[in-house]
Amino acid sequence: MHNLLKGKRGIIFGALDSKSIAWKVAERAHEEGATFVLTNAPVALRLGTISELAEKTGSQVIPADATSMMDLEDLIDKSKEILGGKIDFVLHSIGMSVNVRRGNHYTNQDYNFTKTGFDVSALSFHRVMSMLYKKDAMNEWGSIVALSYMAAQRVFPDYNDMADNKAYLESVARSFGYFFGRDKKVRVNTISQSPTPTTAGSGVKGFDGFIAYAEKMSPLGNATALECADYTISLFSDLTKKVTLQNLYHDGGFSNMGVSTAIMEEFMKDNQSEEQVSKE
Ligand SMILES: NC(=O)c1ccc[n+]([C@@H]2O[C@H](COP(=O)([O-])OP(=O)(O)OC[C@H]3O[C@@H](n4cnc5c(N)ncnc54)[C@H](O)[C@@H]3O)[C@@H](O)[C@H]2O)c1
Repeated sequence: MHNLLKGKRGIIFGALDSKSIAWKVAERAHEEGATFVLTNAPVALRLGTISELAEKTGSQVIPADATSMMDLEDLIDKSKEILGGKIDFVLHSIGMSVNVRRGNHYTNQDYNFTKTGFDVSALSFHRVMSMLYKKDAMNEWGSIVALSYMAAQRVFPDYNDMADNKAYLESVARSFGYFFGRDKKVRVNTISQSPTPTTAGSGVKGFDGFIAYAEKMSPLGNATALECADYTISLFSDLTKKVTLQNLYHDGGFSNMGVSTAIMEEFMKDNQSEEQVSKE
């Protein structure tokens, strides 16, 4: 590989199993010479397979519920101790909606579930940055990245309350990113990733249709988890030092499409078969 992250220290949130985007980022960061701590919610550590990843990348795992300031403080203190200094990169790869899990329609949410999903998926990003900022835990020219989805800008009905959570997440990247840039020379960005077959992704109703549609709409096809990891590594590297406050689309071109010939052909087929039936 290219030693793009040689000597850099990081914290990676959200590797649950080998399908997770954070898992691929950890593998790539390791290949590029970084050292890092892996973290996830205590329940996810029991259910997932993170110890495999820790072994493979020579990393330690520190449990932390990203909604708990106490857990985050402990995580940051321990990470600095284990890694032997301040942090150069942080990946926030966390998402969960209880309304989606329970099949509640967007128009009929359980607001306690909405609050929990917001706390886990959106506010946690502010919490993480706030703890890093207060503890002055980031090195100058460090990089913080969170993962988002285009439902923050456009309507995807079954993405449910996660759409609102992503809109907040992207806004926080700008608002906190300003202070992090001004005061600490640290950059903050979100990556808006294609639909990707992971545990969180596949939980969204109609995901198979969703991913197939995006594939046909995107001139380069959907971006995979590994490709997302590659892009994330570039944002952690010194090659992107002045990129900040951005929501960066990593989606094979989907976000700028109106319609593609592949999708048009699908509709032409449907029309042709309807015409055939009416003739018969
Ligand atoms: N999969 C997709 O289609 C897709 C597309 C765009 C963006 N994303 C985003 O990518 C990120 C990673 O998701 P993924 O697709 O790799 O799925 P994933 O299910 O592998 O990862 C989600 C992670 O969030 C963690 N998490 C949940 N509650 C937590 C808590 N309280 N504290 C700490 N961690 C907690 C889970 O344990 C899990 O590791 C999410 O922000 C997701 O919204 C996913």
